[in-house]
Amino acid sequence: MSSISVEDRVILALDVSSSEQALSIVDRFSSMVNTFKVGLELFTAEGPGIIEKIHQRSKKVFLDLKFHDIPNTVARAAVQATRLGVHMFNLHASGGMEMMKRATEAVVETCLKENLSRPKILAVTVLTSISDEEFRKEMGYQHSIRTHVKHLANMAAEAGLDGVVASGYEVSLIRKKMGEAFIIVTPGIRPTWMPPDDQKRKVTPKEAIRLGADYLVLGRAVLGQKDPEKALELIRLEILSA
Ligand code: C5P
Repeated sequence: MSSISVEDRVILALDVSSSEQALSIVDRFSSMVNTFKVGLELFTAEGPGIIEKIHQRSKKVFLDLKFHDIPNTVARAAVQATRLGVHMFNLHASGGMEMMKRATEAVVETCLKENLSRPKILAVTVLTSISDEEFRKEMGYQHSIRTHVKHLANMAAEAGLDGVVASGYEVSLIRKKMGEAFIIVTPGIRPTWMPPDDQKRKVTPKEAIRLGADYLVLGRAVLGQKDPEKALELIRLEILSA
């Protein structure tokens, strides 16, 4: 297990629809969490202003918009994410090698020209909500999710990305193949005391860390609970004991 602090390991998903709700979560968990995730719902509702407000509170932002478009469009969006000063953002590895390379190059060039710090760029592999059965039957792949994720993680590394978003089911495989420096962010975290919801490839906080994840995305495991502070405290203890 690497030496990342528990406050850094936890990324809290601001899956709400207003700045007001989001900032009250940031303030409430500020002493326990350093990075907050702004995803599709909040960003669509509130735009980039919410990122600035989180930064004003000296917290880091993971911009989870999962870019997936033609290389030119994704590269241009990646430049805008960089200018927002986010700590991390992501794009879909299935958008292809050229898309990932162009985005990385555009980010590096912008950082040099505008003297900005370079955000970590992560590739989404296969969503944690997809089961092996859906992957084969609906999406038509002949191989397993594990094989596919391994392939996408390799592509992401070759394109110069910093790491991947992957389920706990594939973490150890990626860690073995890509080494310690490659960042692995794992969503689909479900402690034993909560139901899976729509997450199919889920793991507990302890399992995710033991398997080699660097960061855990927590959504409903904290904010969907009756006592969110207690839920987060239990998860923090699980991480510390992993
Ligand atoms: O509530 P729950 O823990 O399922 O939330 C997971 C969060 O992580 C959501 O904000 C979701 O968008 C995000 N996420 C995910 N799977 C990925 C990438 C991000 O569930 N592959």
